[in-house]
Amino acid sequence: MNNTKIRKGENMGEIGIGVIGCGGMGRNIVNRVLALSPRVKVRAICDPDARSIAKALEKWAPAPRVYEDHRELSAASDVDWVMIASWNCFHREQTIAALEAGKHVFCQKPLATTLDDCAAMLAAWRQSGRMFNIGFTLRYSPHYRRIKQLLDEGAVGQIVSMEFNETIGFNHGGYIMGDWRRLRQYAGTHLLEKCCHDVDLVNWMVGSRARRVASFGGLDFFKPENLRHMDRIGPDKNGRPAYQTWPGLVRLNPFTSDKDIVDNQVAILEYENGVRATFHTNCNAGLPERRMYILGTEGALRADLGEGAIQVQRIGFDTQCEDISTETDAKGHGGGDAVLSQELVDSMLEGKPPSVGMEEGARSAVTCFAIDDAMDQGRVIDVGPYWTRTGL
Ligand SMILES: NC(=O)c1ccc[n+]([C@@H]2O[C@H](COP(=O)([O-])OP(=O)(O)OC[C@H]3O[C@@H](n4cnc5c(N)ncnc54)[C@H](O)[C@@H]3O)[C@@H](O)[C@H]2O)c1
Repeated sequence: MNNTKIRKGENMGEIGIGVIGCGGMGRNIVNRVLALSPRVKVRAICDPDARSIAKALEKWAPAPRVYEDHRELSAASDVDWVMIASWNCFHREQTIAALEAGKHVFCQKPLATTLDDCAAMLAAWRQSGRMFNIGFTLRYSPHYRRIKQLLDEGAVGQIVSMEFNETIGFNHGGYIMGDWRRLRQYAGTHLLEKCCHDVDLVNWMVGSRARRVASFGGLDFFKPENLRHMDRIGPDKNGRPAYQTWPGLVRLNPFTSDKDIVDNQVAILEYENGVRATFHTNCNAGLPERRMYILGTEGALRADLGEGAIQVQRIGFDTQCEDISTETDAKGHGGGDAVLSQELVDSMLEGKPPSVGMEEGARSAVTCFAIDDAMDQGRVIDVGPYWTRTGL
């Protein structure tokens, strides 16, 4: 939905950005935006970790002002856009403060860690009339855009049911379990933090909202008794231990770390338009996948982001399986980071409304809350009241 009012003169000259959260993803997207336009300038940054501030200052010149209070950053008159890439639990207060200061916002996924936070953010955005872009990088990847286009063109007819998964390689899993993401108070659940992308993609493909969900999950591998698997695999070619090769600021041992997220989970969803879906995640995959298998009234589509593979076959006696591969860039979320950054620059310089924003962020997060409530409470959840409470 276009909820945008552009201020007079805003599309001319330089655009100032303020960055809240200068860790890996904050720097990644800002670096890409700066490389795309010399008119975008980082004017202000805010991060409680001196190491993140130092890394940002190494790269961004002229040196931006460093703020301790995100509210002061958002209030600065030379900041037009606030870019938020802090821990998920802070997205609510930082987004609302920026919108109330009259700034446009780019906020990383997931939207927030609670339903009340999502409802408050949605209301603040509707009130503000400013642009809001959520970091659903995969939405912008050529791979998923091609799948959506094929579905819209009727490649499988009407979708009836589907499978989707995100199974995560062992080192990536180790990173999650040794990082701030291991604690629900900072990140929300594993499903929300890691798989909100996949839930968003399915919401988009199916074109509806979840009506009922059920789920089972648990922490079964990243436990002290499985520490031996680090020795079993041994170090990588640079001498770094297995399960601890991902870069990052905090490196706890993923087997002995305190944590309250699951490392494997399955879920079933029924959408309001009748489509049914199954989901699977696991953080210790020998064969990492981000796969979809979509069955429709006239055909089937099978896809995996890792290989960029898309196969379609129409139902019939003499049909062939069509192989429709896309370019895939494993380092940039399937090429999505590059396209997202270009669209951000288009929003900043030309006022182009973001193609994915607050409502998509809230729909994905709320679906995840319902699935995790189903897992935690051991029952089928009716999602209807969740939509009402959020204001969607
Ligand atoms: N779109 C994607 O595909 C994608 C990929 C990775 C991460 N993310 C999201 O980006 C965000 C950051 O993740 P990351 O991988 O960069 O983590 P990170 O640990 O590399 O960086 C997080 C940074 O936030 C800072 N921070 C923590 N609390 C803060 C606060 N109150 N105010 C300001 N800064 C604060 C930390 O000090 C750290 O520098 C998260 O929301 C995460 O879910 C999105």
